[in-house]
Amino acid sequence: MAKLRTIFSCQKCGTQAPKWLGRCPDCGAWGSLVEEAVGSDNINAKPALAGIVSQSSPVKLPDISQDTGRHQAVGIAEFDRVMGGGIVPGSLSLIGGDPGIGKSTLILQIFGAMAKTEQPLLYISGEESAPQIKQRAERLGVNASQIYVITENCLEKVLEEVKKLKPAVIAVDSIQTIYSNSITSSPGTVSQIREATGQFMLLSKATGIATLLVGHVTKDGAIAGPKTLEHMVDTVLYFEGERGHPFRLLRTVKNRFGSTNEIGVFEMTGLGLQEVANPSSLFLAERPINHPGSVVVSSLEGSRPVLVEIQALVSPSGLANPRRTALGVDANRLSLLVAVLDKIIGVQLHDQDIFVNVAGGMKVAEPAIDLGLVCAVHSSVMNKPLDPHLLLVGEVGLTGEVRAVSALDVRMNEAHKMGFTRMIVPRSQAKLKAPKGMEVVGVANVNEALQLLY
Ligand code: TYD
Ligand code: MG
Repeated sequence: MAKLRTIFSCQKCGTQAPKWLGRCPDCGAWGSLVEEAVGSDNINAKPALAGIVSQSSPVKLPDISQDTGRHQAVGIAEFDRVMGGGIVPGSLSLIGGDPGIGKSTLILQIFGAMAKTEQPLLYISGEESAPQIKQRAERLGVNASQIYVITENCLEKVLEEVKKLKPAVIAVDSIQTIYSNSITSSPGTVSQIREATGQFMLLSKATGIATLLVGHVTKDGAIAGPKTLEHMVDTVLYFEGERGHPFRLLRTVKNRFGSTNEIGVFEMTGLGLQEVANPSSLFLAERPINHPGSVVVSSLEGSRPVLVEIQALVSPSGLANPRRTALGVDANRLSLLVAVLDKIIGVQLHDQDIFVNVAGGMKVAEPAIDLGLVCAVHSSVMNKPLDPHLLLVGEVGLTGEVRAVSALDVRMNEAHKMGFTRMIVPRSQAKLKAPKGMEVVGVANVNEALQLLY
């Protein structure tokens, strides 16, 4: 009898070791090695995809048809934009997100919107029973006969059904629940995830079926499984949202067919996800007027400028190391800007706690919000409110200079649309033609901006 051999593989990076180690020698993760059996793998097993995957031979570049490069719009504008125009036939997309964020709901709604196509759509669920899916579909008003549901965890059986049904799109909810018979380790381990993703990739590339994979995320927010998973797929999307907030953001981190910094904004309602066509109005809806520390900034998300409110609260600290708490903005960025205020402007902050929050659970990472952030902190220190119709745009450097930002015209138009009448912008860009009724003031440094504030 062949001896059952086991190896230990890191669940973070996929590194293999012959014996258990407390720390992965490759990626340095602690306690990530898991025992996986390799001895009983059936090397002679017929490849699951035999018969579907065609043998490929070299083709001349000009002769390659571009059929598989074309986006097919789903009809959910927020999703289509994030995907770069829609779903590309033969592509493999991975959607990651926390449990309960709405991944399954999103997939069902995508299928609902696509149901006008004649080809079947296959929903493969490894987590929920068919009646559970039906119940959710009812709630979402999705009821098309082109949508097929299969509750199955075995990769080989799934591929068998795909071969029979020939769907246009398949959704796998979730990739962590699928296991292949050719590998003995349990579902959700690195080797199983890699195998299942690999098979779906081969299937998509060979047949032109678009595949949507749902992926779990680990407690630090990355998609569970080896990093190679993200390399294998064409598109990686994260579905995010704060607990207690109905807003959901769909973000691209990788897209072989489009831009990677687009966001899609949704609101989770009793009837599923609703698109939010104008996120600025959503994020500014509950803005307190005439309150110190509240500032509106413009963050460019892909092609779209989104206006968000930044709130800062500065209060005397009893701690030796005062707190710097940043929610929705980068904490290092905040420290840097606080140092600029302290050193260049002379605002004493070393004995003050500073809290910064972006309203609505939004995360902004653009340098163009720097000037707004500095002014929010300053406004809280001075305890003076800012003009509610004022928008601040500009990157701040270490000497306190205000630097140019990208796409200022787009930001101006959005600000105008949202009823803002005054903008403080980098001096080098102040000559830009402003929309009617908008006063634009250019500043060269933070000091000049602060002079204009109150
Ligand atoms: P779900 O899609 O099951 O999340 P995931 O697949 O990411 O784990 O969504 C679960 C949550 O969404 C659940 O807490 C209930 C809520 N929800 C609504 O608020 N409205 C709806 O119409 C639906 C279908 C779900
Ligand atoms: Mg789910």
